[in-house]
Amino acid sequence: MTHIGVLTAGGDCPGLNAAIRGVVARAVADGAEVSGIADGWAGLMDGRVRQLSRDDVRGILTRGGTILGTSRTDPFEHGDGLTSLRPVLEETGMDRVVVIGGDGSLRTAARLGDEGLPVVGVPKTIDNDIEGTDISFGFDTAVQIVTDAIDRLTTTAEAHNRIMVVEVMGRHSGWIAIHAGLAGGAEAILVPERGYDLDELAARIVTRHRSGRDYSIVIVAEGVPGPSGDMVLAGLDLTGFERLGGVSNLIAAELEARTGYETRVMILGHLQRGGTPTAFDRVLATRMGIRAAEAALAGDSGVMVACRGQEITLVPLSTAVALPRTVPESRLAEVDWFLA
Ligand code: F6P
Repeated sequence: MTHIGVLTAGGDCPGLNAAIRGVVARAVADGAEVSGIADGWAGLMDGRVRQLSRDDVRGILTRGGTILGTSRTDPFEHGDGLTSLRPVLEETGMDRVVVIGGDGSLRTAARLGDEGLPVVGVPKTIDNDIEGTDISFGFDTAVQIVTDAIDRLTTTAEAHNRIMVVEVMGRHSGWIAIHAGLAGGAEAILVPERGYDLDELAARIVTRHRSGRDYSIVIVAEGVPGPSGDMVLAGLDLTGFERLGGVSNLIAAELEARTGYETRVMILGHLQRGGTPTAFDRVLATRMGIRAAEAALAGDSGVMVACRGQEITLVPLSTAVALPRTVPESRLAEVDWFLA
């Protein structure tokens, strides 16, 4: 009998449970056995695997997080690659794996695929930075959360004639910054794809306030370099992964000094990844999960499920993980006057 393993790896995002549910429901309907692997690749290395029935995934569609748990453990960095996974694969009879992950986890999946493990990838990330798919689930929810936050921050900023610098996730790309900045009516958006000029931005803000607008919202993607040109790190996590965060404090200090307007900072951080997914993300994640199960059932390997236009299709994992998907020049040009 076909035996599909499913895991979630890397940072979580809203929609993971919807995708797991899609995989399980579709595969079980075809008579396949499905096992849930705990905490990403870690569970496949140390044997934390449990069978998932259709009943096990009832009621999880709307839940944030992941019922399987996740981690940034990597079998190549923290083990001997496929060799570290073989004992559990053989013991359980699992003969293919659906990997729901971001760029790092999908890169690992591609490598394991090259070594002979049948793998199907599903892109997930709030950052929306995976190549090969028009959109990843998690992104729509994050944009909605940031937009709600901007709406609230606007009224308090306006009451005090302040600048509010709002830092959002986006390690390599400004997708969240641009979408939420447009939806929330931000005065300026700083993204990793472009440089920025603080003198020019400060002058714009002063003109704006003098003309009667009593607040300015400045959106900063966490991956934007600081005023000195260096990336601002918040440290390393326990797997050695570089944590970003805090660049907005440096930018805010410069803006306050240049404009003379009080400036406050809001780093939205993990709030952007928590809670229930939007209807859009529930649908996208479910469709991707179903398509991944179909690919795994058909014996496809080295592929990633992708959304192209309105269709859910398959693309080679190798093209999907080659480079992060940044905001293209055409999209930046559309909002050129907002970019600082
Ligand atoms: O999922 C990607 C991401 O959201 C990045 O934007 C951010 O830098 C990172 O995850 C934070 O991850 P962690 O949960 O390890 O702090």
